[in-house]
Amino acid sequence: MAQDLAKGFLKHGHEVTIGTRDQSKLEEWKNKEAAGAKLGSFSETAAFGKIVVLAVKGTAAKSALELAGAENLKGKIIIDAANPIADAQPENGVLKFFTTMNESLMEQLQNIYPEAYFVKAFNSVGNALMVNPPFKSKPTMFICGNNEGAKKEVTQIIDQFGWETADMGGAEAARAIEPLCMLWCIPGFRENSWAHAFKLLKL
Ligand SMILES: NC(=O)c1ccc[n+]([C@@H]2O[C@H](COP(=O)([O-])OP(=O)(O)OC[C@H]3O[C@@H](n4cnc5c(N)ncnc54)[C@H](OP(=O)(O)O)[C@@H]3O)[C@@H](O)[C@H]2O)c1
Repeated sequence: MAQDLAKGFLKHGHEVTIGTRDQSKLEEWKNKEAAGAKLGSFSETAAFGKIVVLAVKGTAAKSALELAGAENLKGKIIIDAANPIADAQPENGVLKFFTTMNESLMEQLQNIYPEAYFVKAFNSVGNALMVNPPFKSKPTMFICGNNEGAKKEVTQIIDQFGWETADMGGAEAARAIEPLCMLWCIPGFRENSWAHAFKLLKL
């Protein structure tokens, strides 16, 4: 997922560093697919970015941010695409979460890093459709977060990536946005159908 988002950021003229614990495994991909990007450790990457993207599995989110380092995350916008998917198998196509309906992963992370500006986004669509997807009409990216300025900046990126944004409010709304990933995955697990996205219709 991080690799596809990185290509999207490059395509739209952003500078990109991709964080990993093992740069050697990404060298070949980077040279072929994302020549303009740099590779770095999680802490180098967090220090580099004005905007940081959290794209690791939910169970690794806290340790990835620890490796990134609180000092490097202070005052930064963090686009949080992670989902709190448990290690258990899906049940009839329905993923299991390790969080509850009354506390999302993003709220937990925001509480640990109060000086970072978390914005939930890109969590409920597959990586192949994140950047300028070829739908007939613009799909809707549901976002939330406590900082209005951060959400504005993320909305500009979402615009560039060919989506419309629906701002659902503060961090608590991640309790509703994170489970959209469950819904998005059901046709995939049940029918191997992954080419869809959500759209909010309004009168
Ligand atoms: N794939 C999608 O289409 C998609 C769509 C929407 C949302 N998401 C969400 O995006 C997140 C990433 O998805 P993905 O499919 O890209 O998963 P993935 O391939 O498992 O994620 C790989 C990333 O996770 C890091 N990582 C794994 N274990 C770690 C640990 N113990 N500590 C620190 N970092 C660790 C890896 O770092 P190293 O390079 O160091 O190994 C790498 O950066 C998930 O939360 C997923 O729910 C995915």
